[in-house]
Amino acid sequence: MTEHDPSASVRPAQASFGFRDVPASEKAGLVRQVFASVAPRYDLMNDLMSGGVHRLWKNALVDVANPRPGERFLDVAGGTGDIAFRLLARQIGATGGGRADVTVCDINPAMLSVGRDRAVDRGLLDGLAWTTGDAEALPFPDRSFDGYTIAFGLRNVTDIDKALGEAHRVLRPGGRFYCLEFSKVTSAPLGRLYDAYSERALPFFGRLVARDAESYRYLHESIRRFPPQRDLAARLRKAGFVNVTWRDMTLGVVALHSGWRI
Ligand SMILES: C[S@@+](CC[C@H](N)C(=O)[O-])C[C@H]1O[C@@H](n2cnc3c(N)ncnc32)[C@H](O)[C@@H]1O
Repeated sequence: MTEHDPSASVRPAQASFGFRDVPASEKAGLVRQVFASVAPRYDLMNDLMSGGVHRLWKNALVDVANPRPGERFLDVAGGTGDIAFRLLARQIGATGGGRADVTVCDINPAMLSVGRDRAVDRGLLDGLAWTTGDAEALPFPDRSFDGYTIAFGLRNVTDIDKALGEAHRVLRPGGRFYCLEFSKVTSAPLGRLYDAYSERALPFFGRLVARDAESYRYLHESIRRFPPQRDLAARLRKAGFVNVTWRDMTLGVVALHSGWRI
């Protein structure tokens, strides 16, 4: 018996897939196709689309999460390992080679496979585990992690509240939750500019580099439909987190939400 039973919440019949509503039971499969298609070019595309700024956002997440040696961290929707590598470097750096413990969990084996190759290239073999799993039904026991991170992943899950419930379940009391996600731009003129950029540039780069405009159109649409900062914070509190706060980055293009499990 788990503390939080995800099956107890009734799954909505429809879920957003970009600007379309699709049967909730189909969303995970559609999202899986998107990331299977973009996996080989995913890291290059991130640099191109954000002009490298995604690196600063990810560094900021790890600065705030500040994993200490010996703590167990879970990076959900961890894809090709960008957050995990940073967590690991921080833990190892803190001890000059002490124990690090980061688990990457992602629904998509294609993304994980790129991540594993990157880890091997960097010689990062110890203290890092790769697991295929769904954020909405994590394959880990209750209270098993000190920290939970999810970067640019939450908007892809079918049922955000279920994923938050799972995050709460796998964290130990005192454990910390961090979510980095595209959010609502706080300046109206910049918001219009950013919308126009992401609507056109994402599919453009997608076609040019990853030969897949549709997947990148989905990414733009999923960003637009994700709950704004205040709403996400309310949903975190509803899932049981306390001390919930967020910090806007790049004027709200991205927000870093955090909370504690007690
Ligand atoms: C935009 S990528 C982010 C990858 C990585 N966190 C980063 O910041 O570079 C989103 C990831 O979420 C994963 N994903 C989508 N739905 C998921 C789910 N229900 N459970 C776990 N991972 C999921 C995708 O496979 C993909 O790897």
